[in-house]
Amino acid sequence: MKTKYLTQSDSDLRAAAELLRLGQLVAFPTETVFGLGACCYNEQAVARIFEAKERPLFDPLIVHISTLEMALELWTEINGNMLRLMERFWPGPLTIVAGKKDVVPDLVTAGLDTVAVRFPDHQVARRLIGFAGFPVAAPSANRFGHVSPTRSEHVRDELSGRIAAIVEGETKIGLESTVVRFVENRLLVLRPGGITVEELKSEFPDTLLADEFQQKYSPGHSTRHYAPEIPLILFSDAADLKRLIRLTGISPQDAAAIYFREALIPEIDKFLILSHAGDLSEAAAGLFPALRHFKGKVCLFAQKVPEHGLGLAINDRLRRAAGGK
Ligand code: TXA
Ligand code: MG
Repeated sequence: MKTKYLTQSDSDLRAAAELLRLGQLVAFPTETVFGLGACCYNEQAVARIFEAKERPLFDPLIVHISTLEMALELWTEINGNMLRLMERFWPGPLTIVAGKKDVVPDLVTAGLDTVAVRFPDHQVARRLIGFAGFPVAAPSANRFGHVSPTRSEHVRDELSGRIAAIVEGETKIGLESTVVRFVENRLLVLRPGGITVEELKSEFPDTLLADEFQQKYSPGHSTRHYAPEIPLILFSDAADLKRLIRLTGISPQDAAAIYFREALIPEIDKFLILSHAGDLSEAAAGLFPALRHFKGKVCLFAQKVPEHGLGLAINDRLRRAAGGK
């Protein structure tokens, strides 16, 4: 299949919406990462997503909407707590999981009786969904287990020839949305992401970060994920990095490093710094491109960032990229 490259013009976005209506796949930018969209009501189209990404069928998709009315098509109920969440954080990088209506195909939700819904804060995503007129199921536009794409070139590298079109554009946050659901009126964070736990706690003080057991509510959140092309080892500080180099016996010339604020040892000469200012949102935006950056090295060392705010989501992705080590 020849993949079309589309701009953000109204006529191109209408053409993209028409492709979606015909059951084709279209990748598009959101404020978090690029999504790979299909009409959420078209099972065949949704099946194509799994095929193009080589994604296992037990991993449910997020459905994207461009008006609150669309959420009513998908969920059986919107209670007061959900309304408060939606008012405070939508449109934005928050995905809310709740009971699904029968119109949502089982393939979208991997057979669960809940569906994950997100209202993106990105004008291209919203115009595209608006032109389509139906909710759009869209996982991140990468092949399964790979790093999520934050630029249209990444999508081209991952999916060119497998999908109908790629809409060009920019992402802002660089990390996926936070996935939440209410369990007995308590807000449970199933996946840390663009909305921080601190922000959620300011609205719902007893918000809980799901432990591994509770992540059964979020299937498909596997530890081997976001894998860069070379093995990744995490470290906390200079002493830890030196210890790991000794321990693994890897020669620093064969290694590359991703640091949070500054280079910590002189021996590794290929490195990237995520944020000189120590700014976690800058670090988040640079994380996935950094994981894609190094090729032809034996090993990549990546520094963990402070465990607060967006740092939770950054460290979560780093741990998964390192295979849970
Ligand atoms: O920012 C994002 O969330 C991006 C953009 C494109 O919106 N999308 C994204 O989708 O990250 P994906 O497929 O990479 O992650 C979807 C994850 C699933 O792996 C699962 O953890 C969770 O969302 N999820 C989806 N449906 C769920 C459900 N019904 N119950 C619990 N978790 C669900
Ligand atoms: Mg993904």
